[in-house]
Amino acid sequence: MQILNTVSDLRAVVKAWRKAGDTIAFVPTMGNLHAGHIDLVNKAKASADRVVVSIFVNPTQFGVGEDFLTYPRTEQADQEQLLGVGTDALFLPAVTDIFSSDAATAITVSGISERYCGAFRPGHFSGVATVVCKLFNIVQPDKALFGLKDFQQLTVIKTMVRDLNIPVDIIPVETVREDSGLALSSRNGYLSVAEKQVAPELNRVLRVAKDAILAGQLSIAEIEQQALATLEKFGFKSDYFSVCRSQDLTAATLEDKEIVILAAAKLGKTRLIDNIYFSKGV
Ligand code: PAJ
Repeated sequence: MQILNTVSDLRAVVKAWRKAGDTIAFVPTMGNLHAGHIDLVNKAKASADRVVVSIFVNPTQFGVGEDFLTYPRTEQADQEQLLGVGTDALFLPAVTDIFSSDAATAITVSGISERYCGAFRPGHFSGVATVVCKLFNIVQPDKALFGLKDFQQLTVIKTMVRDLNIPVDIIPVETVREDSGLALSSRNGYLSVAEKQVAPELNRVLRVAKDAILAGQLSIAEIEQQALATLEKFGFKSDYFSVCRSQDLTAATLEDKEIVILAAAKLGKTRLIDNIYFSKGV
């Protein structure tokens, strides 16, 4: 595995692969890798000749008072895991190599970036879209893999790629979970032992809400309110619990067929997000 710390070094490696006719799959991450990230890398490996993984804790997607400074950085363990699954190149740039102090350009994917997580984390999705666009320009992959765990992030990126004609195929990958149903996340490490016991309730409540929608007895507002009340009972402080149309993340009606339920809630100091998507069939 080649480890590249600068844009020019990474570009030189990719250029040589391109010359040899290799296809390239890209997995952007912020590190502290877990089995969800590694699943993305394995799927990348199966879909292209070469796999590039980036680890970059992007300061521009963290808000004031968020966990940029304390975000878990586990470079050595990350490198060992990536080596173990046959990663070809690891891109590990410094902040100054990605963002010059006089940078004047940012990407805004309007509408979708302001709802749900965007409403609670102003500027977050602009930070994500800008860094992902930059990473795409640096790596120039054929495809890039993103987790469905971050459903809104995936939708923002798909929208950006469509609107800006970025020649990268976006491949969504299923959420990897613990047996309890808890979605793996780098932020799970912030949970206390007691909170870890309660955390799987978020996924359970999503599954209950899905069943309620399929049963068709309650209105969407009632289902959302029941879910919020249950989460509160378990000690969560919810940011939102919203039944949406999976295509554009606008509010769903009972007539909609393609549904995603998005949820974000704090347990103590830890903010957890999860979702469940399904088709109501015919
Ligand atoms: P990070 O949180 O490190 O996640 C990197 C990728 O792993 C994202 O595509 C995310 O959706 C995926 N992922 C996280 N948990 C997962 C799980 N349990 N199962 C499957 N995939 C999972 O998301 C980011 O970093 C950043 O915002 C980034 C896109 C790198 C831009 O800075």
